[in-house]
Amino acid sequence: MYRYDETDQRLVDERVVRFRDQMRRFLAGELSEDDFRPLRLQNGLYIQRHAPMLRVAIPYGTMSATQLRMLARVAREYDRGYGHFTTRCNIQYNWVRLEDAPEILAELATVQMHAIQTSGNCIRNITTDPFAGVAADEVLDPRPYCEIVRQWSTLSPEYTFLPRKFKIAITGSRNDRAAVSFHDIGARAVRREDGEIGFEVYVGGGLGRTPMVGHRIQSFLPRRELLSYFDAILRVYNRYGRRDKKYKSRVKILVKELGPEAFTTEVEREWEFLRGGEASIDDARFDAMERHFRAPEIPADGESALPRNGEPAFLRWLARNVTAHRLPGLAIVTLSLKQTGNPPGDASAAQMEAAADLADRYSAGEIRVSHEQNLVLPQVRIAELLALWQAAVGHQLATANIGLLTDVVCCPGGDFCSLANARSIPIAEAIQRRFADEAALEDVGPLELNISGCVNACGHHHIGNIGILGVDKNGEEWYQVTLGGSEDAPPAIGRIIGPSFQAADIPEVVEKVVTVYRRQRSEGERFIDTLRRIGADPFKQHLYGGADGHRDQD
Ligand code: HEM
Ligand code: SF4
Repeated sequence: MYRYDETDQRLVDERVVRFRDQMRRFLAGELSEDDFRPLRLQNGLYIQRHAPMLRVAIPYGTMSATQLRMLARVAREYDRGYGHFTTRCNIQYNWVRLEDAPEILAELATVQMHAIQTSGNCIRNITTDPFAGVAADEVLDPRPYCEIVRQWSTLSPEYTFLPRKFKIAITGSRNDRAAVSFHDIGARAVRREDGEIGFEVYVGGGLGRTPMVGHRIQSFLPRRELLSYFDAILRVYNRYGRRDKKYKSRVKILVKELGPEAFTTEVEREWEFLRGGEASIDDARFDAMERHFRAPEIPADGESALPRNGEPAFLRWLARNVTAHRLPGLAIVTLSLKQTGNPPGDASAAQMEAAADLADRYSAGEIRVSHEQNLVLPQVRIAELLALWQAAVGHQLATANIGLLTDVVCCPGGDFCSLANARSIPIAEAIQRRFADEAALEDVGPLELNISGCVNACGHHHIGNIGILGVDKNGEEWYQVTLGGSEDAPPAIGRIIGPSFQAADIPEVVEKVVTVYRRQRSEGERFIDTLRRIGADPFKQHLYGGADGHRDQD
Protein backbone atom coordinates (compact mmCIF):
# COMPACT_ATOMS: atom_id res chain seq x y z
CA MET A 1 0.00 0.00 0.00
CA TYR A 2 1.04 3.58 -0.51
CA ARG A 3 2.41 5.22 2.65
CA TYR A 4 2.23 8.97 3.00
CA ASP A 5 5.51 10.84 2.93
CA GLU A 6 6.00 13.98 5.02
CA THR A 7 4.47 16.23 2.40
CA ASP A 8 1.31 14.13 2.12
CA GLN A 9 0.90 14.05 5.88
CA ARG A 10 1.52 17.77 6.28
CA LEU A 11 -1.03 18.58 3.61
CA VAL A 12 -3.72 16.51 5.33
CA ASP A 13 -2.83 17.78 8.82
CA GLU A 14 -2.86 21.40 7.71
CA ARG A 15 -6.25 20.90 6.13
CA VAL A 16 -7.62 19.63 9.45
CA VAL A 17 -6.29 22.67 11.32
CA ARG A 18 -7.80 25.03 8.79
CA PHE A 19 -11.16 23.28 8.81
CA ARG A 20 -11.28 23.28 12.59
CA ASP A 21 -10.92 27.04 12.51
CA GLN A 22 -13.54 27.40 9.77
CA MET A 23 -15.98 25.31 11.80
CA ARG A 24 -15.24 27.32 14.95
CA ARG A 25 -15.94 30.56 13.11
CA PHE A 26 -19.14 29.16 11.62
CA LEU A 27 -20.43 27.97 14.98
CA ALA A 28 -19.53 31.34 16.50
CA GLY A 29 -21.61 33.08 13.84
CA GLU A 30 -18.57 34.69 12.24
CA LEU A 31 -19.10 32.84 8.96
CA SER A 32 -22.48 32.82 7.21
CA GLU A 33 -24.15 29.63 5.89
CA ASP A 34 -23.25 30.73 2.38
CA ASP A 35 -19.60 31.34 3.23
CA PHE A 36 -19.31 28.10 5.13
CA ARG A 37 -21.00 25.89 2.55
CA PRO A 38 -18.11 25.62 0.05
CA LEU A 39 -15.68 25.14 2.93
CA ARG A 40 -17.58 22.22 4.40
CA LEU A 41 -18.13 20.66 0.98
CA GLN A 42 -14.40 20.81 0.32
CA ASN A 43 -14.16 18.57 3.37
CA GLY A 44 -16.82 16.08 2.31
CA LEU A 45 -19.50 17.41 4.62
CA TYR A 46 -23.01 17.54 3.13
CA ILE A 47 -26.27 18.49 4.78
CA GLN A 48 -28.74 15.70 4.18
CA ARG A 49 -32.26 14.68 5.06
CA HIS A 50 -31.75 14.00 8.74
CA ALA A 51 -28.30 15.20 9.60
CA PRO A 52 -24.97 16.19 8.12
CA MET A 53 -23.35 13.46 6.04
CA LEU A 54 -19.60 13.00 5.91
CA ARG A 55 -18.05 11.29 2.85
CA VAL A 56 -14.55 9.94 3.44
CA ALA A 57 -12.28 8.89 0.57
CA ILE A 58 -10.84 5.42 0.25
CA PRO A 59 -8.39 6.05 -2.59
CA TYR A 60 -8.86 3.41 -5.30
CA GLY A 61 -10.73 1.38 -2.72
CA THR A 62 -7.64 0.12 -0.89
CA MET A 63 -7.32 0.20 2.90
CA SER A 64 -5.23 -1.32 5.63
CA ALA A 65 -6.80 -3.11 8.60
CA THR A 66 -5.74 -0.14 10.74
CA GLN A 67 -7.60 2.27 8.47
CA LEU A 68 -10.73 0.11 8.49
CA ARG A 69 -10.60 -0.01 12.29
CA MET A 70 -10.53 3.77 12.27
CA LEU A 71 -13.57 3.84 9.99
CA ALA A 72 -15.27 1.56 12.52
CA ARG A 73 -14.23 3.84 15.37
CA VAL A 74 -15.75 6.85 13.60
CA ALA A 75 -18.99 4.91 13.10
CA ARG A 76 -19.10 3.93 16.75
CA GLU A 77 -17.98 7.18 18.37
CA TYR A 78 -19.44 9.78 16.08
CA ASP A 79 -22.29 8.13 14.18
CA ARG A 80 -24.96 5.55 14.95
CA GLY A 81 -22.64 2.59 14.77
CA TYR A 82 -22.46 2.02 11.02
CA GLY A 83 -21.25 3.47 7.74
CA HIS A 84 -22.27 3.12 4.09
CA PHE A 85 -19.74 1.99 1.48
CA THR A 86 -20.68 3.69 -1.78
CA THR A 87 -20.43 2.76 -5.45
CA ARG A 88 -17.48 5.14 -5.73
CA CYS A 89 -15.33 3.46 -3.10
CA ASN A 90 -15.96 6.04 -0.41
CA ILE A 91 -17.61 5.61 2.95
CA GLN A 92 -20.46 7.84 4.05
CA TYR A 93 -21.57 8.53 7.60
CA ASN A 94 -25.18 9.61 7.71
CA TRP A 95 -25.60 10.86 11.27
CA VAL A 96 -22.54 12.89 12.20
CA ARG A 97 -22.80 16.10 14.21
CA LEU A 98 -21.53 19.16 12.43
CA GLU A 99 -19.31 20.21 15.31
CA ASP A 100 -17.67 16.77 15.47
CA ALA A 101 -16.51 16.83 11.84
CA PRO A 102 -13.10 18.49 12.47
CA GLU A 103 -12.32 15.98 15.21
CA ILE A 104 -13.33 13.07 12.96
CA LEU A 105 -11.04 14.39 10.23
CA ALA A 106 -8.23 14.80 12.77
CA GLU A 107 -8.62 11.18 13.83
CA LEU A 108 -8.73 10.02 10.21
CA ALA A 109 -5.54 11.96 9.47
CA THR A 110 -3.68 9.86 12.04
CA VAL A 111 -4.21 6.85 9.74
CA GLN A 112 -3.59 8.75 6.50
CA MET A 113 -7.23 9.24 5.54
CA HIS A 114 -9.23 12.34 4.66
CA ALA A 115 -12.34 13.68 2.94
CA ILE A 116 -10.59 16.01 0.51
CA GLN A 117 -12.19 16.12 -2.95
CA THR A 118 -15.07 13.86 -2.02
CA SER A 119 -17.29 16.73 -3.13
CA GLY A 120 -17.07 19.73 -5.42
CA ASN A 121 -16.18 20.35 -9.04
CA CYS A 122 -12.81 18.71 -8.89
CA ILE A 123 -11.26 15.36 -9.71
CA ARG A 124 -12.91 12.90 -7.33
CA ASN A 125 -11.64 9.70 -5.79
CA ILE A 126 -9.84 7.62 -8.43
CA THR A 127 -11.40 4.16 -8.72
CA THR A 128 -10.09 0.83 -9.97
CA ASP A 129 -10.61 -2.92 -10.01
CA PRO A 130 -11.17 -4.24 -6.46
CA PHE A 131 -8.92 -7.17 -7.43
CA ALA A 132 -6.10 -4.85 -8.55
CA GLY A 133 -2.65 -6.33 -8.11
CA VAL A 134 -3.93 -9.84 -7.44
CA ALA A 135 -6.31 -10.70 -10.29
CA ALA A 136 -5.37 -13.70 -12.40
CA ASP A 137 -6.36 -11.91 -15.62
CA GLU A 138 -4.32 -8.79 -14.94
CA VAL A 139 -1.98 -7.14 -17.46
CA LEU A 140 -0.49 -4.97 -14.74
CA ASP A 141 -1.25 -3.67 -11.27
CA PRO A 142 -3.12 -0.37 -11.79
CA ARG A 143 -2.68 0.91 -8.23
CA PRO A 144 0.69 2.64 -8.72
CA TYR A 145 -0.88 4.47 -11.67
CA CYS A 146 -3.94 5.37 -9.60
CA GLU A 147 -1.69 6.75 -6.88
CA ILE A 148 0.30 8.82 -9.37
CA VAL A 149 -2.97 10.22 -10.72
CA ARG A 150 -4.22 10.82 -7.18
CA GLN A 151 -1.14 12.83 -6.25
CA TRP A 152 -1.32 14.81 -9.46
CA SER A 153 -5.02 15.63 -8.99
CA THR A 154 -5.13 16.32 -5.24
CA LEU A 155 -5.66 20.04 -4.68
CA SER A 156 -4.43 20.85 -8.16
CA PRO A 157 -5.19 24.57 -8.48
CA GLU A 158 -5.90 24.18 -12.17
CA TYR A 159 -8.50 21.47 -11.59
CA THR A 160 -10.16 22.67 -8.41
CA PHE A 161 -12.88 24.63 -10.20
CA LEU A 162 -13.83 22.51 -13.17
CA PRO A 163 -17.25 22.98 -14.80
CA ARG A 164 -18.41 19.95 -12.81
CA LYS A 165 -17.13 16.98 -10.82
CA PHE A 166 -14.76 14.69 -12.66
CA LYS A 167 -14.35 10.94 -12.23
CA ILE A 168 -11.42 8.83 -13.36
CA ALA A 169 -11.21 5.02 -13.34
CA ILE A 170 -8.20 2.91 -14.27
CA THR A 171 -8.11 -0.84 -14.81
CA GLY A 172 -5.20 -3.16 -15.36
CA SER A 173 -7.23 -6.18 -16.46
CA ARG A 174 -8.73 -7.53 -19.61
CA ASN A 175 -12.04 -8.07 -17.80
CA ASP A 176 -13.19 -4.65 -16.81
CA ARG A 177 -14.20 -4.61 -13.15
CA ALA A 178 -13.86 -0.84 -12.88
CA ALA A 179 -16.54 0.19 -15.42
CA VAL A 180 -14.07 2.43 -17.26
CA SER A 181 -16.57 3.21 -20.03
CA PHE A 182 -18.81 4.96 -17.54
CA HIS A 183 -16.33 7.52 -16.27
CA ASP A 184 -15.33 10.99 -17.41
CA ILE A 185 -11.96 9.42 -18.16
CA GLY A 186 -11.45 5.66 -18.19
CA ALA A 187 -8.07 4.07 -18.80
CA ARG A 188 -7.37 0.42 -19.51
CA ALA A 189 -3.81 -0.85 -19.37
CA VAL A 190 -2.36 -2.63 -22.38
CA ARG A 191 1.02 -4.23 -22.82
CA ARG A 192 2.30 -4.23 -26.39
CA GLU A 193 4.16 -7.15 -27.88
CA ASP A 194 7.44 -5.26 -27.46
CA GLY A 195 6.67 -5.07 -23.73
CA GLU A 196 5.82 -1.38 -23.66
CA ILE A 197 3.04 -0.46 -21.28
CA GLY A 198 0.36 1.98 -22.25
CA PHE A 199 -3.33 2.76 -21.90
CA GLU A 200 -6.47 2.81 -23.96
CA VAL A 201 -8.25 6.01 -22.99
CA TYR A 202 -12.01 6.50 -22.92
CA VAL A 203 -13.68 9.86 -22.42
CA GLY A 204 -17.22 11.05 -21.89
CA GLY A 205 -18.87 8.13 -20.19
CA GLY A 206 -21.11 8.65 -17.21
CA LEU A 207 -24.43 7.91 -15.62
CA GLY A 208 -26.70 10.43 -13.97
CA ARG A 209 -29.32 12.34 -15.90
CA THR A 210 -27.80 11.74 -19.34
CA PRO A 211 -26.19 8.30 -19.27
CA MET A 212 -23.49 7.67 -21.86
CA VAL A 213 -20.90 5.11 -22.81
CA GLY A 214 -17.44 6.67 -23.13
CA HIS A 215 -15.62 6.98 -26.47
CA ARG A 216 -12.19 5.52 -26.98
CA ILE A 217 -9.97 8.41 -28.00
CA GLN A 218 -6.58 6.71 -27.65
CA SER A 219 -5.72 3.11 -28.35
CA PHE A 220 -2.17 3.23 -27.00
CA LEU A 221 -1.04 6.04 -24.78
CA PRO A 222 2.53 5.35 -23.58
CA ARG A 223 2.48 5.22 -19.81
CA ARG A 224 5.00 8.04 -19.40
CA GLU A 225 2.43 10.38 -20.99
CA LEU A 226 -0.47 9.37 -18.77
CA LEU A 227 -0.60 12.70 -16.93
CA SER A 228 0.28 14.92 -19.87
CA TYR A 229 -2.62 13.39 -21.80
CA PHE A 230 -5.02 13.68 -18.87
CA ASP A 231 -3.86 17.29 -18.57
CA ALA A 232 -4.74 17.85 -22.21
CA ILE A 233 -8.24 16.37 -21.74
CA LEU A 234 -8.88 18.41 -18.62
CA ARG A 235 -7.67 21.62 -20.18
CA VAL A 236 -10.01 21.17 -23.14
CA TYR A 237 -12.83 20.43 -20.70
CA ASN A 238 -11.92 23.33 -18.44
CA ARG A 239 -11.91 25.71 -21.36
CA TYR A 240 -14.96 24.54 -23.33
CA GLY A 241 -17.07 22.69 -20.76
CA ARG A 242 -20.38 24.43 -20.15
CA ARG A 243 -20.73 26.38 -16.97
CA ASP A 244 -24.05 28.00 -17.80
CA LYS A 245 -26.23 24.95 -17.07
CA LYS A 246 -25.44 22.35 -14.43
CA TYR A 247 -27.05 19.54 -16.38
CA LYS A 248 -24.93 20.26 -19.44
CA SER A 249 -21.67 20.72 -17.66
CA ARG A 250 -20.17 17.21 -17.57
CA VAL A 251 -17.46 16.33 -20.08
CA LYS A 252 -19.80 13.77 -21.64
CA ILE A 253 -21.97 16.65 -22.89
CA LEU A 254 -18.95 18.43 -24.34
CA VAL A 255 -17.86 15.26 -26.13
CA LYS A 256 -21.38 14.84 -27.45
CA GLU A 257 -21.74 18.45 -28.56
CA LEU A 258 -18.36 18.64 -30.29
CA GLY A 259 -18.46 15.03 -31.47
CA PRO A 260 -15.80 12.54 -30.36
CA GLU A 261 -13.56 13.26 -33.38
CA ALA A 262 -13.51 17.03 -32.92
CA PHE A 263 -13.05 16.58 -29.17
CA THR A 264 -10.09 14.28 -29.80
CA THR A 265 -8.58 16.78 -32.24
CA GLU A 266 -8.79 19.47 -29.56
CA VAL A 267 -7.14 17.17 -27.04
CA GLU A 268 -4.38 16.23 -29.47
CA ARG A 269 -3.76 19.88 -30.25
CA GLU A 270 -3.45 20.69 -26.57
CA TRP A 271 -1.28 17.63 -26.02
CA GLU A 272 1.25 18.89 -28.57
CA PHE A 273 2.29 21.49 -26.01
CA LEU A 274 2.34 19.09 -23.11
CA ARG A 275 3.75 15.77 -24.23
CA GLY A 276 7.31 15.13 -23.22
CA GLY A 277 7.07 18.12 -20.87
CA GLU A 278 7.11 18.33 -17.13
CA ALA A 279 4.11 16.07 -16.64
CA SER A 280 5.91 13.18 -18.35
CA ILE A 281 6.72 10.40 -15.91
CA ASP A 282 10.08 8.67 -15.96
CA ASP A 283 10.68 5.01 -15.24
CA ALA A 284 12.30 5.80 -11.89
CA ARG A 285 9.02 7.31 -10.67
CA PHE A 286 7.09 4.23 -11.74
CA ASP A 287 9.64 1.97 -10.08
CA ALA A 288 9.49 3.92 -6.84
CA MET A 289 5.69 3.87 -6.84
CA GLU A 290 5.53 0.18 -7.68
CA ARG A 291 7.67 -0.59 -4.65
CA HIS A 292 4.87 0.74 -2.44
CA PHE A 293 2.51 -1.87 -3.83
CA ARG A 294 4.72 -4.95 -3.75
CA ALA A 295 2.76 -7.94 -2.60
CA PRO A 296 3.41 -8.91 1.00
CA GLU A 297 5.32 -12.15 1.52
CA ILE A 298 2.81 -14.87 2.20
CA PRO A 299 4.22 -18.31 2.90
CA ALA A 300 3.30 -20.79 0.19
CA ASP A 301 1.71 -23.89 1.63
CA GLY A 302 1.45 -26.19 -1.32
CA GLU A 303 -2.34 -26.09 -1.66
CA SER A 304 -3.28 -24.59 -4.97
CA ALA A 305 -6.71 -26.05 -5.67
CA LEU A 306 -9.88 -24.97 -3.92
CA PRO A 307 -11.30 -27.53 -1.48
CA ARG A 308 -13.80 -29.87 -3.10
CA ASN A 309 -15.34 -31.32 0.00
CA GLY A 310 -17.08 -29.74 2.89
CA GLU A 311 -20.43 -28.44 4.03
CA PRO A 312 -22.71 -27.38 1.17
CA ALA A 313 -22.82 -23.82 2.57
CA PHE A 314 -19.03 -23.61 2.48
CA LEU A 315 -18.89 -24.99 -1.06
CA ARG A 316 -21.52 -22.50 -2.19
CA TRP A 317 -19.48 -19.69 -0.68
CA LEU A 318 -16.33 -20.96 -2.41
CA ALA A 319 -18.13 -20.96 -5.72
CA ARG A 320 -19.57 -17.47 -5.29
CA ASN A 321 -17.26 -15.40 -3.13
CA VAL A 322 -13.80 -16.75 -3.94
CA THR A 323 -11.92 -15.67 -7.07
CA ALA A 324 -8.69 -16.93 -8.64
CA HIS A 325 -5.53 -15.15 -7.50
CA ARG A 326 -2.57 -14.60 -9.80
CA LEU A 327 -0.34 -16.61 -7.43
CA PRO A 328 -0.82 -20.30 -6.73
CA GLY A 329 -1.77 -21.09 -3.15
CA LEU A 330 -3.68 -17.83 -2.73
CA ALA A 331 -7.24 -16.70 -3.37
CA ILE A 332 -9.26 -13.47 -3.40
CA VAL A 333 -12.25 -13.44 -1.06
CA THR A 334 -15.23 -11.13 -1.28
CA LEU A 335 -16.99 -10.42 2.02
CA SER A 336 -20.60 -9.73 1.15
CA LEU A 337 -22.27 -6.67 2.63
CA LYS A 338 -25.57 -7.90 1.18
CA GLN A 339 -27.08 -9.94 3.94
CA THR A 340 -30.86 -9.66 3.58
CA GLY A 341 -32.22 -6.96 5.84
CA ASN A 342 -28.96 -5.05 5.90
CA PRO A 343 -29.06 -2.00 3.59
CA PRO A 344 -26.70 -2.85 0.71
CA GLY A 345 -23.22 -1.47 1.38
CA ASP A 346 -23.86 -0.70 5.04
CA ALA A 347 -21.43 -2.15 7.57
CA SER A 348 -21.72 -1.89 11.31
CA ALA A 349 -18.73 -0.87 13.41
CA ALA A 350 -18.57 -4.45 14.66
CA GLN A 351 -18.53 -5.79 11.09
CA MET A 352 -15.80 -3.35 10.08
CA GLU A 353 -13.73 -4.38 13.08
CA ALA A 354 -14.35 -8.04 12.27
CA ALA A 355 -13.32 -7.49 8.65
CA ALA A 356 -10.17 -5.70 9.85
CA ASP A 357 -9.35 -8.63 12.13
CA LEU A 358 -9.95 -11.07 9.27
CA ALA A 359 -7.66 -8.99 7.07
CA ASP A 360 -4.92 -9.07 9.68
CA ARG A 361 -5.34 -12.76 10.30
CA TYR A 362 -5.86 -13.96 6.72
CA SER A 363 -5.04 -11.24 4.20
CA ALA A 364 -1.75 -9.58 5.11
CA GLY A 365 -3.66 -6.70 6.69
CA GLU A 366 -5.23 -5.49 3.45
CA ILE A 367 -8.86 -4.87 2.43
CA ARG A 368 -10.56 -3.39 -0.61
CA VAL A 369 -13.99 -1.95 -1.16
CA SER A 370 -15.61 -2.69 -4.50
CA HIS A 371 -17.91 -0.43 -6.48
CA GLU A 372 -20.50 -3.14 -5.95
CA GLN A 373 -20.36 -2.16 -2.28
CA ASN A 374 -18.69 -5.27 -0.91
CA LEU A 375 -15.39 -5.75 0.92
CA VAL A 376 -12.57 -7.80 -0.54
CA LEU A 377 -9.70 -9.66 1.13
CA PRO A 378 -7.09 -9.90 -1.63
CA GLN A 379 -4.44 -12.17 -0.12
CA VAL A 380 -5.97 -15.28 1.41
CA ARG A 381 -4.15 -18.61 1.58
CA ILE A 382 -6.26 -21.37 0.08
CA ALA A 383 -5.45 -23.55 3.09
CA GLU A 384 -7.12 -20.98 5.34
CA LEU A 385 -10.33 -20.48 3.40
CA LEU A 386 -12.35 -22.75 5.65
CA ALA A 387 -11.20 -21.01 8.83
CA LEU A 388 -11.87 -17.62 7.26
CA TRP A 389 -15.35 -18.64 6.16
CA GLN A 390 -16.21 -19.95 9.62
CA ALA A 391 -15.08 -16.68 11.17
CA ALA A 392 -16.88 -14.53 8.57
CA VAL A 393 -20.21 -16.36 8.99
CA GLY A 394 -20.42 -15.22 12.60
CA HIS A 395 -20.30 -11.57 11.50
CA GLN A 396 -22.82 -11.83 8.64
CA LEU A 397 -20.00 -11.26 6.18
CA ALA A 398 -20.22 -14.59 4.38
CA THR A 399 -23.50 -14.44 2.45
CA ALA A 400 -22.78 -16.55 -0.61
CA ASN A 401 -24.35 -14.23 -3.15
CA ILE A 402 -21.63 -12.34 -5.02
CA GLY A 403 -22.82 -11.57 -8.54
CA LEU A 404 -26.28 -13.01 -7.85
CA LEU A 405 -29.61 -11.24 -7.77
CA THR A 406 -29.49 -10.54 -4.02
CA ASP A 407 -26.08 -8.83 -4.31
CA VAL A 408 -28.09 -5.69 -4.96
CA VAL A 409 -26.25 -2.42 -5.59
CA CYS A 410 -28.28 0.37 -4.08
CA CYS A 411 -27.96 4.05 -3.15
CA PRO A 412 -29.26 5.32 0.21
CA GLY A 413 -32.33 6.75 -1.55
CA GLY A 414 -35.18 8.46 0.24
CA ASP A 415 -34.25 7.11 3.65
CA PHE A 416 -31.26 9.44 3.78
CA CYS A 417 -30.76 11.45 0.64
CA SER A 418 -32.52 14.78 0.23
CA LEU A 419 -32.41 14.48 -3.56
CA ALA A 420 -34.33 11.21 -3.70
CA ASN A 421 -37.64 10.72 -5.47
CA ALA A 422 -38.23 7.42 -3.76
CA ARG A 423 -36.76 5.03 -1.26
CA SER A 424 -34.43 2.35 -2.51
CA ILE A 425 -33.35 0.40 0.59
CA PRO A 426 -36.80 -1.18 1.22
CA ILE A 427 -37.00 -2.14 -2.46
CA ALA A 428 -33.65 -3.91 -2.20
CA GLU A 429 -34.82 -5.76 0.88
CA ALA A 430 -38.13 -6.80 -0.66
CA ILE A 431 -36.27 -8.26 -3.66
CA GLN A 432 -33.78 -10.04 -1.41
CA ARG A 433 -36.68 -11.58 0.54
CA ARG A 434 -38.41 -12.73 -2.63
CA PHE A 435 -35.25 -14.54 -3.71
CA ALA A 436 -34.43 -15.99 -0.30
CA ASP A 437 -34.32 -19.57 -1.53
CA GLU A 438 -30.65 -20.29 -2.15
CA ALA A 439 -31.14 -23.05 -4.68
CA ALA A 440 -33.49 -20.89 -6.76
CA LEU A 441 -31.09 -17.98 -6.53
CA GLU A 442 -28.22 -20.16 -7.70
CA ASP A 443 -30.37 -21.41 -10.53
CA VAL A 444 -30.94 -17.84 -11.76
CA GLY A 445 -27.16 -17.37 -11.77
CA PRO A 446 -25.23 -14.15 -12.43
CA LEU A 447 -27.52 -11.17 -12.62
CA GLU A 448 -26.72 -7.59 -11.69
CA LEU A 449 -29.52 -5.61 -10.15
CA ASN A 450 -29.03 -1.94 -9.34
CA ILE A 451 -31.34 0.55 -7.67
CA SER A 452 -31.19 4.36 -7.54
CA GLY A 453 -33.57 6.67 -5.74
CA CYS A 454 -33.36 9.36 -8.44
CA VAL A 455 -31.84 10.20 -11.83
CA ASN A 456 -28.47 11.01 -10.31
CA ALA A 457 -27.83 7.29 -10.57
CA CYS A 458 -25.68 6.80 -7.49
CA GLY A 459 -26.89 3.20 -7.46
CA HIS A 460 -25.77 2.82 -11.10
CA HIS A 461 -29.21 1.62 -12.20
CA HIS A 462 -28.36 2.27 -15.87
CA ILE A 463 -25.71 -0.42 -15.88
CA GLY A 464 -27.63 -3.06 -13.97
CA ASN A 465 -28.83 -5.98 -16.08
CA ILE A 466 -32.03 -5.04 -14.30
CA GLY A 467 -32.14 -1.41 -13.20
CA ILE A 468 -34.69 0.18 -10.91
CA LEU A 469 -35.09 3.93 -10.68
CA GLY A 470 -37.23 5.81 -8.16
CA VAL A 471 -39.50 8.39 -9.80
CA ASP A 472 -41.90 10.87 -8.31
CA LYS A 473 -45.46 11.00 -9.63
CA ASN A 474 -47.64 13.58 -7.99
CA GLY A 475 -45.87 13.10 -4.71
CA GLU A 476 -45.98 9.30 -4.84
CA GLU A 477 -43.06 6.90 -5.10
CA TRP A 478 -42.96 4.93 -8.35
CA TYR A 479 -40.27 2.82 -9.94
CA GLN A 480 -39.12 2.66 -13.52
CA VAL A 481 -37.47 -0.55 -14.69
CA THR A 482 -34.65 -0.82 -17.24
CA LEU A 483 -33.24 -3.95 -18.82
CA GLY A 484 -29.95 -4.71 -20.53
CA GLY A 485 -27.49 -2.46 -18.76
CA SER A 486 -24.03 -3.88 -18.44
CA GLU A 487 -20.68 -2.66 -17.24
CA ASP A 488 -18.67 -5.44 -18.78
CA ALA A 489 -18.14 -6.03 -22.46
CA PRO A 490 -19.92 -4.75 -24.38
CA PRO A 491 -20.78 -1.87 -22.03
CA ALA A 492 -24.41 -0.84 -22.35
CA ILE A 493 -27.03 1.45 -20.85
CA GLY A 494 -30.25 -0.28 -19.88
CA ARG A 495 -33.47 0.60 -21.69
CA ILE A 496 -36.70 1.54 -20.03
CA ILE A 497 -39.21 -1.21 -20.64
CA GLY A 498 -42.43 0.69 -20.10
CA PRO A 499 -44.64 2.40 -17.54
CA SER A 500 -43.40 2.48 -14.00
CA PHE A 501 -44.58 0.38 -11.06
CA GLN A 502 -45.49 0.88 -7.44
CA ALA A 503 -43.15 -0.31 -4.72
CA ALA A 504 -45.29 -3.30 -3.78
CA ASP A 505 -45.15 -4.62 -7.37
CA ILE A 506 -41.38 -4.59 -7.76
CA PRO A 507 -40.51 -8.07 -6.37
CA GLU A 508 -43.19 -9.54 -8.65
CA VAL A 509 -41.82 -7.59 -11.60
CA VAL A 510 -38.31 -8.93 -10.98
CA GLU A 511 -39.71 -12.43 -10.57
CA LYS A 512 -41.55 -12.16 -13.90
CA VAL A 513 -38.42 -10.93 -15.67
CA VAL A 514 -36.50 -13.87 -14.23
CA THR A 515 -39.24 -16.28 -15.27
CA VAL A 516 -38.94 -15.21 -18.90
CA TYR A 517 -35.19 -15.72 -18.70
CA ARG A 518 -35.54 -19.18 -17.20
CA ARG A 519 -37.96 -20.22 -19.89
CA GLN A 520 -35.90 -18.88 -22.75
CA ARG A 521 -32.29 -19.41 -21.74
CA SER A 522 -30.12 -21.98 -23.41
CA GLU A 523 -27.80 -24.21 -21.43
CA GLY A 524 -25.35 -22.18 -19.33
CA GLU A 525 -26.50 -18.84 -20.72
CA ARG A 526 -26.38 -15.85 -18.34
CA PHE A 527 -29.36 -13.55 -17.94
CA ILE A 528 -27.70 -10.73 -19.87
CA ASP A 529 -26.83 -13.03 -22.77
CA THR A 530 -30.37 -14.36 -23.07
CA LEU A 531 -31.68 -10.81 -22.97
CA ARG A 532 -29.26 -9.75 -25.69
CA ARG A 533 -30.26 -12.71 -27.81
CA ILE A 534 -34.03 -12.46 -27.53
CA GLY A 535 -34.41 -8.71 -26.94
CA ALA A 536 -36.66 -6.99 -24.42
CA ASP A 537 -40.03 -7.74 -26.08
CA PRO A 538 -40.71 -11.13 -24.46
CA PHE A 539 -40.02 -9.54 -21.07
CA LYS A 540 -42.30 -6.61 -21.76
CA GLN A 541 -45.00 -8.93 -23.01
CA HIS A 542 -44.90 -10.99 -19.85
CA LEU A 543 -44.88 -7.89 -17.64
CA TYR A 544 -47.47 -5.75 -19.30
CA GLY A 545 -49.33 -8.19 -21.49
CA GLY A 546 -51.53 -6.34 -23.92
CA ALA A 547 -53.19 -4.18 -21.32
CA ASP A 548 -51.16 -1.71 -19.40
CA GLY A 549 -53.97 0.80 -19.14
CA HIS A 550 -54.20 0.40 -15.38
CA ARG A 551 -50.62 1.50 -15.02
CA ASP A 552 -49.45 5.03 -14.79
CA GLN A 553 -48.01 6.11 -18.14
CA ASP A 554 -44.54 7.68 -18.31
C1 HEM B 1 -25.50 13.01 0.05
C2 HEM B 1 -26.04 12.24 -0.82
C3 HEM B 1 -25.71 12.41 -2.27
C4 HEM B 1 -25.82 13.49 -3.07
C5 HEM B 1 -26.28 14.87 -2.69
C6 HEM B 1 -25.42 13.07 -4.40
C7 HEM B 1 -25.44 13.86 -5.52
C8 HEM B 1 -25.27 13.38 -6.78
C9 HEM B 1 -25.58 14.08 -7.97
C10 HEM B 1 -26.20 15.47 -8.06
C11 HEM B 1 -25.26 13.27 -9.02
C12 HEM B 1 -25.43 13.57 -10.50
C13 HEM B 1 -24.28 14.28 -10.99
C14 HEM B 1 -24.19 14.42 -12.46
O1 HEM B 1 -24.51 13.48 -13.21
O2 HEM B 1 -23.73 15.48 -12.89
C15 HEM B 1 -24.73 12.08 -8.48
C16 HEM B 1 -24.28 11.04 -9.22
C17 HEM B 1 -23.59 9.99 -8.69
N1 HEM B 1 -23.32 9.81 -7.36
FE1 HEM B 1 -24.15 10.81 -5.84
N2 HEM B 1 -25.04 11.80 -4.35
C18 HEM B 1 -25.19 11.36 -3.08
C19 HEM B 1 -24.91 10.14 -2.61
C20 HEM B 1 -24.20 9.23 -3.32
C21 HEM B 1 -24.02 7.90 -2.90
C22 HEM B 1 -24.52 7.30 -1.61
C23 HEM B 1 -23.32 7.29 -3.87
C24 HEM B 1 -22.98 5.85 -3.95
C25 HEM B 1 -23.82 4.89 -3.50
C26 HEM B 1 -23.01 8.27 -4.88
C27 HEM B 1 -22.29 8.04 -6.03
C28 HEM B 1 -22.65 8.64 -7.22
C29 HEM B 1 -22.47 8.07 -8.53
C30 HEM B 1 -21.76 6.78 -8.85
C31 HEM B 1 -23.05 8.92 -9.46
C32 HEM B 1 -23.13 8.69 -10.97
C33 HEM B 1 -22.76 9.88 -11.78
C34 HEM B 1 -21.95 9.61 -13.02
O3 HEM B 1 -21.16 8.65 -13.04
O4 HEM B 1 -22.10 10.39 -13.99
N3 HEM B 1 -23.58 9.44 -4.53
N4 HEM B 1 -24.75 12.17 -7.12
S1 SF4 C 1 -29.33 8.36 -6.74
FE1 SF4 C 1 -30.42 10.13 -6.02
S2 SF4 C 1 -31.47 9.31 -4.21
FE2 SF4 C 1 -29.80 7.94 -4.59
S3 SF4 C 1 -28.13 8.76 -3.33
FE3 SF4 C 1 -27.91 9.58 -5.42
S4 SF4 C 1 -28.83 11.56 -5.30
FE4 SF4 C 1 -29.58 10.39 -3.55
